[in-house]
Amino acid sequence: MLLWKIQKDTGFMTTRILGIESSCDETAAAIVADGRDILSSVVATQLDIHRKYGGVVPELASRAHLRKIVPVVREALAKAGLSFGDIDAVGVTHGPGLVGALLVGVTYGKVLATELRKPLVPVNHLEGHVHAVFLEAHLSRVVPELPAVCLIVSGGHTLLYHVEAKQPTEPASPRKFVYRRLGGTRDDAAGEAYDKVARLLALGYPGGPIIDQLANAGSRIKDDFSLGPVKIKGSPFDFSFSGIKTAVLYYVRAHPEFAEELAVREKALRENRRKAADLLPLCSPRTLSLISKFQSAVVRELVERTLAAAAGTGARTILVSGGVAANGELRERFTAQAERASVKVFFPSRALSTDNAAMIAEAAYFHLSDAATNSREWNAEPNLRLV
Ligand code: KG4
Ligand code: ZN
Repeated sequence: MLLWKIQKDTGFMTTRILGIESSCDETAAAIVADGRDILSSVVATQLDIHRKYGGVVPELASRAHLRKIVPVVREALAKAGLSFGDIDAVGVTHGPGLVGALLVGVTYGKVLATELRKPLVPVNHLEGHVHAVFLEAHLSRVVPELPAVCLIVSGGHTLLYHVEAKQPTEPASPRKFVYRRLGGTRDDAAGEAYDKVARLLALGYPGGPIIDQLANAGSRIKDDFSLGPVKIKGSPFDFSFSGIKTAVLYYVRAHPEFAEELAVREKALRENRRKAADLLPLCSPRTLSLISKFQSAVVRELVERTLAAAAGTGARTILVSGGVAANGELRERFTAQAERASVKVFFPSRALSTDNAAMIAEAAYFHLSDAATNSREWNAEPNLRLV
């Protein structure tokens, strides 16, 4: 019988799910009650490990997950004031992601659920990002209306989906979503473009947060650099960011005067002076303008193609999730342009935008009814798709 139904029949309504996330460079565990209340959420980031390589090193990521998974789960339980016996089910990311990294969470989740004799729910990381928006909306007591268009925009993905609610088979069971892929990036993910441009401008890793903080300082500077809208043949809901990144690269190469400040910033990064306040004085007006124009071009692509998808499908709601959803200009532009188009736009908080396990526990809740019939034959799936 289904877990939620047992609990409903016995009058004990709270379902506490332990979510586990290890698909990339964050080891995370969280406990979410009834698919809406975050009792705890712990994220151990590996940024300091990967920073000097300018990107995630898969082998180092797996090893760090192995070291962190047990303490992170214990901390999530402690923060929620719970013990293992209080957990009703375990949800774990099984893809997409780095295979070695995924395997740590999947193996741990399987052993834990078997030991506790509790249901185990395999969760698609991308669906986790969609649920992050709903988790946030629960906190603000609003429910995004469906159908919606959902933009998942992170370091590994830039994807556009149409999301509808499937009617639940039993009245009290949580509703599930039905996804249709509308488009995606043809080359780099948006976050990847941020990280690469930050690298070529000697702004450190990851690129998104630092570019986000510096972009405003260059917004009113006039120079000869400009980035027009990206032209893509075929689907209007596809994206391409490699041209924007390459335009920045060629501009820097064509202007040898950038070399000196690049060397100064590289030295600052080596000395661990990597905050916006450290790097801002080391950026010329021309660099700040480049940063600002790069960000505006990326944001324009994301906002306009997503709004076009909403108009094209008749959706009145837009959901934006993933690490790049934390971006200030993206949020502002989406909010302003969606309002003009009479479309409602929803973002998770910044903490729920980037990888976390609360969104995994939340997504697991909606698939709990499948867990009873699930075999444990599934494994890590690095190339898992949503549809
Ligand atoms: O969702 P996430 O934590 O991990 C992936 O699944 O990739 O996203 C990480 C990505 C990185 O590329 C990072 O540079 C970008 O999100 N990012 C941002 C911001 N914060 C993180 N990009 C733009 N603006 C931000 N504020
Ligand atoms: Zn992610």
